[in-house]
Amino acid sequence: MKALILVGGFGTRLRPLTLSFPKPLVDFANKPMILHQIEALKDVGVTEVVLAINYRPEVMLNFLKDFEDKLGIKIICSQETEPLGTAGPLALARDRLMDGSGEPFFVLNSDVISEYPFAELIQFHKSHGGEATIMVTKVDEPSKYGVVVMDESGKVDRFVEKPKVFVGNKINAGIYLLNPSVLDRIELRPTSIEKEVFPKIAADQKLYAMVLPGFWMDIGQPKDYITGLRLYLESLRKKASSKLATGSHIVGNVLVHENAVIGEGCLIGPDVAIGPGCVIEPGVRLSRCTVMRGVRIKKHACISSSIIGWHSTVGQWARIENMTILGEDVHVSDEIYSNGGVVLPHKEIKSSILKPEIVM
Ligand code: GDD
Ligand code: MG
Repeated sequence: MKALILVGGFGTRLRPLTLSFPKPLVDFANKPMILHQIEALKDVGVTEVVLAINYRPEVMLNFLKDFEDKLGIKIICSQETEPLGTAGPLALARDRLMDGSGEPFFVLNSDVISEYPFAELIQFHKSHGGEATIMVTKVDEPSKYGVVVMDESGKVDRFVEKPKVFVGNKINAGIYLLNPSVLDRIELRPTSIEKEVFPKIAADQKLYAMVLPGFWMDIGQPKDYITGLRLYLESLRKKASSKLATGSHIVGNVLVHENAVIGEGCLIGPDVAIGPGCVIEPGVRLSRCTVMRGVRIKKHACISSSIIGWHSTVGQWARIENMTILGEDVHVSDEIYSNGGVVLPHKEIKSSILKPEIVM
């Protein structure tokens, strides 16, 4: 089977992290977002993944070359010369996706995290005889998403992207299984699968939706990224708890890379991910945060509800909280306080950030 991952877009809502890497390569739970998806696709027998990309494909390909061999999966870039939206890239990659086998193929938004229940998706798709299946999930704030109205059998009656008035609370999770015939509905031009393709398949009564089992989150914004990590670690606790850290210094669900060093007297958790090569000096307190590859947190610093970008350092006694996002290679001096600072890469922070603001 084949899959196409939509990896376009500049990831502006996840700046400053996306100033250093394209969004799909930003680490989530110690692994680039896109690897979570590629590994799960591989597990259900996908042999070729097409990355639909509209800028800097070389960064992505260089990075993923290693994984092609390690995972034994073919990864191909399909580059747009102009952004083609969420459907146009399928038309562009038409020849790759139509391999004559007649098999359905996966399409994924690159910023959604879940347990990727692809096997269940395949089974459901085969059972209904429609043309396309989308996974849906319930959320409290449906207006930010594509909303689906469906019957008990899963047949979709309506698909409304970013509705202004309430139509329902089941939303498009950005995970699809499509028959090759869907490609005949898409022209090679900038076009939206949510606005132009799904509503038409639904009108032909050939669009089905399956409620996604387990958790789901679009992690394309810092607040949702932090919530997504909590949900991901909770699910890891149920499915593979041996991957989580243990010890008297650990509270709740915590992921610590095997190459990270943690000093004496730290208290870590809940909902923390510490990446490879990190050094957490003695007496540090971390909760609800992500500490990316190569970071040093000095003695007695306290970090909560924040993301610390690659190779940054946080000084001793510093207090970092309330959705502070440090870009790559940021250095925070000793005893600094950051309340929601969003700091661009390669900065030195020598005075406190008292209210949420962007530090350029
Ligand atoms: N190749 C390519 N080209 N990819 C693109 C382009 C483009 O021009 N524009 C967007 N994408 C990719 C994004 O990188 C992302 O993976 C996916 O398409 C969806 O775009 P977002 O910008 O993240 O859309 P959204 O989050 O507002 O809404 C979408 O996702 C929701 C679930 O998170 C829609 O699919 C909604 O219906 C859905 O509910
Ligand atoms: Mg999104």
